[in-house]
Amino acid sequence: MKKLVVFYSLEGNTKFIAQAIAQSAGADILELRPEKEISSSGFMKYFWGGKQVLTKEKPELLPLEKNPHEYDLIFIGTPVWASTFAPPLLTFFSEEKLRDKKIALFCTYGGNAGLTLEKMEEKLVGNEIMSRIGFKEPLKNNPEECADKAKEWAGGIV
Ligand SMILES: Cc1cc2nc3c(=O)[nH]c(=O)nc-3n(C[C@H](O)[C@H](O)[C@H](O)COP(=O)(O)O)c2cc1C
Repeated sequence: MKKLVVFYSLEGNTKFIAQAIAQSAGADILELRPEKEISSSGFMKYFWGGKQVLTKEKPELLPLEKNPHEYDLIFIGTPVWASTFAPPLLTFFSEEKLRDKKIALFCTYGGNAGLTLEKMEEKLVGNEIMSRIGFKEPLKNNPEECADKAKEWAGGIV
């Protein structure tokens, strides 16, 4: 079974979890990179990021380095932005239209994941959702413990 971890990360938390999952699952990695990234420093990231979510923007992505259609099990991860998944994931869902995949969803959040993972699931109709998990800013809150939890979770799914 071919395994892939797809994720977007502005400040590294989601990337940190994605790497732990990939290591444990023996999966390839596909990082979604917007052509124009918002600045990750200062308060304005909340303004620009929040605006992208509210206007349902689909930011152009740099060419994908892996073809997700070639994989059987796909882990998909996002930071929580304005109580939902980050806009690069919206681009990914609408351009790739995944079907008949086994999918496991993860997110990282600052305060509350809300319904982020359920909203991702709504975009993945026609696939089998195996599991969902959220992590509170792992780079600030016991990174090692979070990485272990992510590895255990991914191992259980594989
Ligand atoms: C634009 C923006 C909006 C955010 N909105 C939320 C939110 O609604 N709820 C929440 O719990 N955290 C929110 N956060 C915090 C991030 O979800 C959290 O820091 C996450 O771990 C960042 O992941 P990253 O380091 O992979 O980018 C927001 C962060 C940004 C930049």
